[in-house]
Amino acid sequence: MKRSLIAGIGSALPEKVLTNRDLESIVDTSDEWIVQRTGISERHIAAEGETTSDLALAAAEKALADAGLTSSDIDLIVLATATPDQTFPATACTVQDRLGMHHGYAFDVQAVCSGFLFALTTADAHLKAGSAKRALVIGAETFSRILDWSDRGTCVLFGDGAGAVVLEAHDADEETSPRGLLTAHLRSDGHFRDKLFVDGGPSSTRTVGHLRMEGREVFKHAVATITDVITDAFEATGESAETIDWFVPHQANRRIIDASAKRLGIAEEKVVVTVQHHGNTSAASIPLALDVAVRDGRIKKGDLVLLEAMGGGFTWGSALIRW
Ligand code: ACO
Repeated sequence: MKRSLIAGIGSALPEKVLTNRDLESIVDTSDEWIVQRTGISERHIAAEGETTSDLALAAAEKALADAGLTSSDIDLIVLATATPDQTFPATACTVQDRLGMHHGYAFDVQAVCSGFLFALTTADAHLKAGSAKRALVIGAETFSRILDWSDRGTCVLFGDGAGAVVLEAHDADEETSPRGLLTAHLRSDGHFRDKLFVDGGPSSTRTVGHLRMEGREVFKHAVATITDVITDAFEATGESAETIDWFVPHQANRRIIDASAKRLGIAEEKVVVTVQHHGNTSAASIPLALDVAVRDGRIKKGDLVLLEAMGGGFTWGSALIRW
């Protein structure tokens, strides 16, 4: 049986940092309100002209360097984004070209904040099917481009960034190599599509549009959906809140993260939190948080890492990885 291992990881953030204090001069808000309701203190914002593919490329190059590989070793790119450079071609194809890669295949997936888990699961399926041997899985966003900077209920929540992993197919021997992606569970329910959406698009309005959200409604569903899909992961593998080493949730809101961990019985010290510095970077948030925890030495080879995300659609999902 084939199993997908993470062979390298990297991330990239725009240089510009926008603090809560900076936001006080843009909308009627306060550092206290934002910190108390979300846990966010600052976020990175792309400079004029800086695109999703710029951030994705930088993250991908770091992930390749971390794996000791070059783009010639990659034959698949799956890029999750809700903020592509252009409607088409896929931002993945732009990254492919900018990596100097003219073989293999590249495409985008769109599941908003759950995008990285959908991309990871998709790439895993391609590796297991034998259609590719090594994939770059990227989550990259420039949400600052779709925010309504006069809407204090949304513009304080999001940031820009990218994270990438190199996923490699291995012949798994359950006795000697239990590492890799152990299980993944994806869900969506379009019934909730009007709770978190962008009010534009080429087919409906011929504009890009702005992010709109019923924050309370999203919050209400987030904890329930997250805990359900994590329970699926535990049931599928026999693992539990006690046996996991690290919980790396989608970084949307500190209160959602804390409430989910508490409901699942996951100890506070196992939870990786970066939302205070990154804000919600949608599809980039999980690989950005993973990269922080790998770089600072928390996540080590052999650790059991639980990922989860929930976002517009609604979409949601979980994954368990033996690092
Ligand atoms: N600064 C100051 N006041 C604000 C701000 C702000 N930035 N934003 C809203 N308010 C005000 C509102 O106008 C309202 O005022 P009113 O009572 O006078 O009408 C008051 O604060 C309360 O507003 P609510 O929206 O009810 O505040 P709530 O406690 O629900 O917090 C928040 C809002 C932070 C958006 C919360 O609902 C939330 O976190 N929801 C989850 C949304 C989320 O994380 N989405 C990300 C994408 S989905 C995902 O990734 C899971």
